[in-house]
Amino acid sequence: MLTSKEIRESFKSFFASKGHKIVPSAPMVIKGDPTLMFTNAGMNQFKDIILGNVEAKYTRVADSQKCLRVSGKHNDLEEVGHDTYHHTMFEMLGNWSFGDYFKKEAIEWAWEYLVSVLGLDPDRLYATVFEGSPSEGLSRDDEAASYWAQFLPAERIINGNKHDNFWEMGDTGPCGPCSEIHIDLRPDEERARVNGLELINKNHPQVIEIWNLVFMQYNRRADSSLDALPHKVIDTGMGFERLCMAIQGKTSNYDTDVFQPLISTLATMSGIRYGDDASTDIAMRVVADHIRTIAFAITDGQLPSNAKAGYVIRRILRRAVRYGYTFLHCREAFMYRLLPTLIDTMGDAYPELQAQRELIGRVIKEEEESFLRTLETGIRLLDKKIAENKAAGSTTLRGTDAFELYDTFGFPLDLTALILAENGMTVDEAGFDTEMQKQKERARNAAAMEAGDWVVIREGESKFSGYDFTETETEILRYRLVKQKNKEYYQVVLSDTPFYAEMGGQVGDSGQLIDESGVAYDIFDTKRENNLPVHLMKKLPESTTDTFVARIHEEKRRQAEANHTATHLMHEALRDVLGTHVEQKGSFVSPEVLRFDFSHFGKMSVEEIRKVEELVAQRIRADYRREEFRDVPIAEAQAMGAMALFGEKYGEEVRVMKYGSSVELCGGTHIPSTGMIGTFRIVSESSIASGIRRIEAVTGANAERLTYEREDILLAIKELFNNNPNLIKSIEKMLEEDVQLKKQVADMKQERIARFKKTLLEQDIRRRGIRVFAIKELMQTEMMKDLAFQIAGEMTESFAIVAGTIESENKCALTVMLSKDLVESGMDAAKLVRSAAGLIQGGGGGQPHFATAGGKKSEGIHAAIEQILKEADLAN
Ligand code: ALA
Repeated sequence: MLTSKEIRESFKSFFASKGHKIVPSAPMVIKGDPTLMFTNAGMNQFKDIILGNVEAKYTRVADSQKCLRVSGKHNDLEEVGHDTYHHTMFEMLGNWSFGDYFKKEAIEWAWEYLVSVLGLDPDRLYATVFEGSPSEGLSRDDEAASYWAQFLPAERIINGNKHDNFWEMGDTGPCGPCSEIHIDLRPDEERARVNGLELINKNHPQVIEIWNLVFMQYNRRADSSLDALPHKVIDTGMGFERLCMAIQGKTSNYDTDVFQPLISTLATMSGIRYGDDASTDIAMRVVADHIRTIAFAITDGQLPSNAKAGYVIRRILRRAVRYGYTFLHCREAFMYRLLPTLIDTMGDAYPELQAQRELIGRVIKEEEESFLRTLETGIRLLDKKIAENKAAGSTTLRGTDAFELYDTFGFPLDLTALILAENGMTVDEAGFDTEMQKQKERARNAAAMEAGDWVVIREGESKFSGYDFTETETEILRYRLVKQKNKEYYQVVLSDTPFYAEMGGQVGDSGQLIDESGVAYDIFDTKRENNLPVHLMKKLPESTTDTFVARIHEEKRRQAEANHTATHLMHEALRDVLGTHVEQKGSFVSPEVLRFDFSHFGKMSVEEIRKVEELVAQRIRADYRREEFRDVPIAEAQAMGAMALFGEKYGEEVRVMKYGSSVELCGGTHIPSTGMIGTFRIVSESSIASGIRRIEAVTGANAERLTYEREDILLAIKELFNNNPNLIKSIEKMLEEDVQLKKQVADMKQERIARFKKTLLEQDIRRRGIRVFAIKELMQTEMMKDLAFQIAGEMTESFAIVAGTIESENKCALTVMLSKDLVESGMDAAKLVRSAAGLIQGGGGGQPHFATAGGKKSEGIHAAIEQILKEADLAN
C-alpha cells in the first residue's frame, strides 16, 4: 500500500515526466491581496499569470499546495469533523497549462495517472461535464465529453450544471467549464444494490469528487458578460487526503496515514477510543483537522489575533479547544501536545513546520490557556442568564444573548444549546441568526470593493523602473474606477513607472503624473492587484492618451529607503545580539517609522537594546555601499548567505540586497549607502504574542527628533532642580525625604487623634442615657472617620457620634456613627446624614451604623449637626 508521502511524490514525478516544472507550495497565508486572506486553491499563486499581468516562466507547472477553506467564497468550516471528507486545511495536487496544452491532454493524463499509475479501478470512476447555459450562450462541453468517451461508457459521463461544472475564481476574472472526476468507494454489494450514478454530487461520504479539471477560456466582466480569454489555461485540483483514502482502501479521510497518527495520540491523551461513540469521534476529527490548520498558519506567519485573518485562526483554534473541552474532557491545554506527531507526519514535506516547532508550540499553548479561561467565564455568564430566565419564568434564551456568547466568548450556538438543554431550556435560533446576519452585513459593507471594468488605452506590459529612477516618461495603459466605503478613486496602470507598489511591508510611493502641458495630477498611493502595480488617483488626467512624466515624491521615498535598509541592518544585529533563533515575522516600513516583528522569547534588556543600536550605528558609520543582485536563482542567493524566509513567496529568481555582511532576499527599495541613514534609534520594544517581539525604530531626522525630545524632558527636570550637576542624587534625596515626611505626617495625625479622643472621652455628655459626641472640627474627614472608629472600639454603652469636619471654605463633611443597640432600636445613620446634607449643599449615605456626606457649604456645618441631633432626639 502506498503511503501518503509516496502518493504525493508520485503525483509530482508523473507530471514532471510530462514536462511540468514542479514548484513548491506557496504560503497558505496570503499577504498583500485585499480580496483573499488564505490560499484556497492551487491556482491562487498563479492568478497574475492567468490574468495576463505577467508572463509565465514555465507553461507547464505542477505542485502540492497547502489550502485553507474557512472564509469567503469557499468555506467548509462547519462541515469539518461532522463528515469524513471535508477539511479546513487540505493539500491540493494540481497541474497547470498556461497557453500550452488544453482539454485533451488534461483529461488523458488525469486518467493515465489515476488508472495506469495508481491502479484505481476504472469501473469506480465517473466524469462530469458542463451541460451548458443557454442564458449565457454557452453550449454543452462536448469536447471534454468526447475525450472522456475514450475511457468511460457514455452513461458514466454525466452532465453537470453551472454550480458544479463552471468554475469561477471570483465575481470577475478568468473562468470556464470544468470536468470533475468522482469515485465510488462503496463495497461491491452496495454498488450492486444502488447504482453509483444516483449518488454523484449527493453528499454521499463514499461517492465523492476527487479531482477537478478547470478549462479556463473566458473572462467574466463586471457587468457579468463573458469575453474569450486570449491564452487558455488548464487549472486542476485534486484533494490529496481523499486520494489517499481511495488508494489506501479506507472509507474516511481520517482513517488514512495522514490523520491516524494524530487521532491515536489524541486517544492516548484523552483515554477515549476512536470509533466508540459518534460525538467523541466528531471531536477527535475536529481536533485532528484543526491542529494542522493552526500549526501551518502560524508557520506561515499568521498568528491568532482579534482581527481579520488572525481572528479566523483564533476561531478555528477555539472550535477545536471547545470540542476537546466538551467531548474529550480536556480541561487543560492539549492541542500543543499534538505537535510532535504532526511534525513526524508532515515535517518532511513541509520543513518549515520542523524549523518553527518551538514557536508554534508556545503560541498554541498560550492561546489555548487564555481561551480556556474565557470559556469558564462564558459558562458562568450563561449560568447567570439561565438563572435570570428561570426567575422570570422564561425557558428560551434570547437570540442576542446567545450571539453575545458566540461573538465574545467563542461559544458556538450548539454548545449554548447543549448547556441550555441540560437546564430544560432552548435558544431563540431565529434571533441568533438575525444577529449573525447583521454582523455579516457589517463586515461585508466594510470590506466591499466595487471595481468597474478596465478602460484600455493601450495594450502592453507595465515596467517598473523605480530601482533606478525616480522619474520616467510613461503612458497610461488602462484605468478603472473603484468604489470602496463611500470613497471613489481610480486605479491607473502605467507603461513605465518609478512608483514602488506596496509590498513586503514597504508602503507604496506617492507623487505626481504630469501631462504634456505641465499640469500635475496627484498619485496618492501605489498598490498591487494580482501583482499588477496600480497607481491610485482621485482625479484622472484630462487627456488619458498624453505622454506623461511620472515622478515620485523623492523625499518620502528616501526616508522609506533609509528605514528599509535600517531594518536589514537591525535584523542582522538582532541575530548577533540575541541569537539565530531570531526570525522575521512581520515588517512595516514607511517614511516615518519602521516596525519589525521577530521571534524571541522574553523581553529584551536595556543592555541588549543598546547593543543592537550600537551595532546598527557601527554599520551606518561603515557606510557600506548598496550591492544589488537581480534575478539570482534561489540556491545561489542562499549560497551568498541570504536569510531565506519561510512563509514568503518568492519567484524562482530573487533579488538579493547586500550591505557589508547583511544579505537579504528583498524586493524593496534601498538607500545607496548605509551612511545616508544618518541616525538610528529604537523607540520601543514590546510583546505582540507569545514568543513574538516587536521593535519600532526611527532613522534620520525622525531619530534626531526623538533624541531631542528625550533631551528636552531631561533639561526641564534639571531646571526644576536648579541645574544641580548631580541630578540623580538630588532626585534620590528628594524621594527619600518624601518618604520620611509622609511618615512624620502620619505620626502627627495619630497623635492628634489620640489627644482629641482623650478630651472627648473626658467630657461625659449624655441625652436619654446615651453618650453623645457632637463635634465640629477643622480636620480631614478621613481622620474623623478614624477617630469615630477608635471611640466606638472603646465604648461599652449606647453612643452616638455626630461630627462635622471642615477642610476648607467649600469642602466639608458630616460623619454619623451609632452603637449597635441604637441601630437595633430603629435609628439609621444613613437617614440622619441625608436629612441634613442639604444644609451643607451636599449628599451622601452609608449603612445604618455608619454614614457620611460631603458638602460644599462649610458654614452650614453647625446647623447640620444640630439638625441631626434634633432628628435623633439627642438635642439639648
Ligand atoms: N481551481 C480549481 C478548484 O479549486 C481546480 O477546484
